[in-house]
Amino acid sequence: MPSYFRPEIDALDGYTPGEQPKINNLIKLNTNENPYPPSPAALRAAHEFDAELLHRYPDPNADMLRDAIAQVNSVRRENVIAGNGSDDILTMTFRAFTAPDKPLACLDPSYSLYPVLAAMQGAPVIRITLDAAADFAMPDDAVKRAGNANIFIITRPNAPTGNTFDREYMRTICREFKGIVMFDEAYADFADDNCMEFASEFDNVIVSRTFSKSYALAGLRLGYAVASPKIIEGLFKLKDSYNLDRFTQAVGRAAFLDRAYLARRCAELRTIRDELRGRLLAIGFRVIPSSTNFLFAAPPDGDGEAYFRYLRDNAVLVRYFKGPVTGSFVRITVGTPAEAERLLELSHDRYAK
Ligand SMILES: Cc1ncc(COP(=O)(O)O)c(C=O)c1O
Repeated sequence: MPSYFRPEIDALDGYTPGEQPKINNLIKLNTNENPYPPSPAALRAAHEFDAELLHRYPDPNADMLRDAIAQVNSVRRENVIAGNGSDDILTMTFRAFTAPDKPLACLDPSYSLYPVLAAMQGAPVIRITLDAAADFAMPDDAVKRAGNANIFIITRPNAPTGNTFDREYMRTICREFKGIVMFDEAYADFADDNCMEFASEFDNVIVSRTFSKSYALAGLRLGYAVASPKIIEGLFKLKDSYNLDRFTQAVGRAAFLDRAYLARRCAELRTIRDELRGRLLAIGFRVIPSSTNFLFAAPPDGDGEAYFRYLRDNAVLVRYFKGPVTGSFVRITVGTPAEAERLLELSHDRYAK
């Protein structure tokens, strides 16, 4: 049968999501989920949700949710769009700003979905290689390297490396880059600072966030972006009409408004993260300083794949990314203290005995 697909789709290697295995008693540290439950306010909203209303379409604009997001971020409803996970925000953004003559610039290594979304659009990808020897720092001439890209996505803090980049340098990039600058801030709630205010300061800046990590709502699918009203208006044209169901809008809003719970859980996870990092360093690992809820860690022998398999054989699942640079590391999601203890015990047995 001839292929009826667009050539871009025939040529595409689809994105490979982290495994979601159904193994009992597995310690699952592979997709940067939050090990804790969502906010009690979100759980209450879920229990009180009136399922009879499901015969009606949801609010296509998610206005109540967007108002809450706008208020907390000191912007207006016109500055906010919500999506079915931040992947949905990324999909809309790529449809809007990438094409065969509108390249994407992104960091390398970074979130592996970006090149897949660019390929769907037939858009070239300009990769800005991070300096592995300097804990994956961004080069000083990133704007020059991004060249004629129409959009430059900066993952800050970055995944899978976990590090962040100087905020003033980010401001300079926003000022100097001629296209759209998008900050993917999926992990910003675990960091010391963020770039949200650049979305108000610059017309060409988009900042995206997710509920999947810090809000412990990966299963709900909710994310949002803040940008100038003109950008948001454009993205609205590309959005599925009803991209957020009623349940997600209600539960997401309740979770978002429980700022105290968010702050408490993020602080807890940061403490577990920093202790885990210190103890892995003590066993001889190289661990990139992290501003996220995961650690990018290379075992003492630099064989990330063997370490990944060893942990998996012992029912601890982390994420491994093949490649000349990433292959010596694994990415470990920060779980509960008990999960961290088990990972440390196994790591100690293998490398420190
Ligand atoms: C950097 C980055 N951006 C975006 C996402 C997507 O998050 P979600 O679609 O669950 O909101 C992820 C998920 O792992 C991520 O690591």
